[in-house]
Amino acid sequence: MMSIAALALVACSCARAGEPPRAAPAPVLTSAEARDIHSFARPEIARVTHVALDLALDFAARRVAGTATLDVAARPDAAEILLDSKGLEIEAVTDGAGRALPWSHGEGNEIMGRPLSVRLGAARRIAIRYRSAPDAAALQWLEPAQTVGGRHPYLFSQGQAILNRSWIPTQDSPGIRQSWEARIVAPEPLKVVMSGDNLDPDGERVAGGRAYRFRMEHAVAPYLIAIAAGDLAFRPLGPRTGVWTEPGMLAAAAAELVDTERMMDAAEALYGPYRWGRYDMLVLPPSFPFGGMENPRLTFLTPTLLAGDRSLVGTVAHELAHSWSGNLVTNAAWSDFWLNEGFTTYFEHRIMEAVYGPERARQEVALSWDDLQSELEELGRNTPATALHLDLAGQDPDAGMNSIAYDKGAAMLRTIEASVGRQRWDAYLRSWFDRHAFQPTTSEMFLADLRRNLLRGDLALEQRLMLDQWVYRPGLPDNAVRPDPQAFAAVDQAVRAFAGGGAAGAAPYAGWNTAERIRFLGALPRRLPAARLGELDRAFRLSDSGNSEVLFAWLKLAIANRFDPALPAAERFLTTMGRRKFVLPLFEALIGQGEWGRPAAQRIYARARPTYHAVTRGSVDTAMRTAGLAV
Ligand code: BES
Ligand code: ZN
Repeated sequence: MMSIAALALVACSCARAGEPPRAAPAPVLTSAEARDIHSFARPEIARVTHVALDLALDFAARRVAGTATLDVAARPDAAEILLDSKGLEIEAVTDGAGRALPWSHGEGNEIMGRPLSVRLGAARRIAIRYRSAPDAAALQWLEPAQTVGGRHPYLFSQGQAILNRSWIPTQDSPGIRQSWEARIVAPEPLKVVMSGDNLDPDGERVAGGRAYRFRMEHAVAPYLIAIAAGDLAFRPLGPRTGVWTEPGMLAAAAAELVDTERMMDAAEALYGPYRWGRYDMLVLPPSFPFGGMENPRLTFLTPTLLAGDRSLVGTVAHELAHSWSGNLVTNAAWSDFWLNEGFTTYFEHRIMEAVYGPERARQEVALSWDDLQSELEELGRNTPATALHLDLAGQDPDAGMNSIAYDKGAAMLRTIEASVGRQRWDAYLRSWFDRHAFQPTTSEMFLADLRRNLLRGDLALEQRLMLDQWVYRPGLPDNAVRPDPQAFAAVDQAVRAFAGGGAAGAAPYAGWNTAERIRFLGALPRRLPAARLGELDRAFRLSDSGNSEVLFAWLKLAIANRFDPALPAAERFLTTMGRRKFVLPLFEALIGQGEWGRPAAQRIYARARPTYHAVTRGSVDTAMRTAGLAV
């Protein structure tokens, strides 16, 4: 059994007069696997249980400024509490009564930032007056020109994995769950949204703009605190679902996301009630560095999902699934990131199956398998980075995360499902979410839970499943269930015909769905002469594709073959969105093409870099510098 530090016993979760008492703080795990090497916190001594933010957004200075008031549970003998901070400028720290508390910044590092130590004395509430740095990695401050409307500035945050410490002084560790509330002042006419209950959607007039108030009553991992501010409008999609975005994108966003309520119903039918109240989405400006981010009650989405035909809404299913795997049951440390992403990828495919049918789902499973194979090839099947449980010592967790967590994780769960049958597996998975709701978890805990509640001493099953090999060893175990080879039968046939010299126009591309087009472009021979690429481009108008995934698949192929005519499309794509999944591989592909690609990479990056979020910029900077190119 896991040992759980029952800090609730020593904690005073005293409520302020007139406030409802808060639930006892969620437990913090103390096993070796649960230790978070990416946080300076020592939660077994003193930990944050609640964060109250009172901040103003200063677009001119690119800073948030104000107070973070933290409720603390601590051992009676705790001398100090250690918080995470990166670039924060601390002005003062006081206790709940306004008396100054001694504080200091300790020695830190480039990846983690610096520990902020506060001498507690008897205090169990501390108030930190501070401001964030203009280059805070979580925050992107956009000029009006970077928005759809072009008239108002915009701000958004991205917390995962360890970025929130650049704008919130707290213990930035996924195993230290915290409830939170916020009051945010933004200049008119901007609206503020956050990943919690929106208590006052229209805000209240105050000096300097409008004040918006939010609350998250559940204790959540602090990377899930998120904010955005801009010229935002809302449209309901269903009783519990809706979409926020700039007015100029609202109709397109609402049309694309119209199936969300059905996805929620499907998800609940699979793995139990949705526990967060509403599920809204925010479609961000194109510099948002991810496809989606599962901020509770308010998923953040890239506008590159708006293909016009709902073909990319698998990402919505994915972020919604995180409401169970990730937000409800959370990896205690980033080395077990697969518990968030692998479970979610599996769950995503199940939602897609329930809503759009088994044909579409088996194609998405097959694409996930393709991604897994390419990642294994790229990383090497024997590298430790291809195990599910990772050793991230000395690494930025962000750099250690690859598609293994997603696609190998999902393949493991499909393998268990195939072995025990869907009915038994679904009952188990649902009970896993229930047993661990609102709690952190580890690989070790999952395997123990699985053995206790699913395997129940069945040794033959234990042998068949190879659980430890899946989780702790590199590569892919022999028992992995393969995708249906028929999933793309027609497409694979067309690939063979083209590879054998057939005309591009002979492929029935126009009748294919997006998954089929992606498979086609990914399965074509990697080496193709310019004439053949030109034929493909003309036949299917690939360089003009409005589908970001199709365009991406095409540009990878084109760049790998130094196909000049695709360069303008690559430049357009790279300078109009900042989604890292697209941006980084395309720059890497250009860099990999030596004299042909490097000048283009440098020229395009010089234009695009100032428009990218720190997450994307950091990754491309590293790729450029590694290749000896200046940024
Ligand atoms: N939680 C992730 C995004 C993330 C991962 C942010 C790691 C920071 C560090 C999100 O749920 C996700 O996986 N997004 C994917 C889409 C998904 C369909 C694979 C993305 O952004 O492409
Ligand atoms: Zn995810």
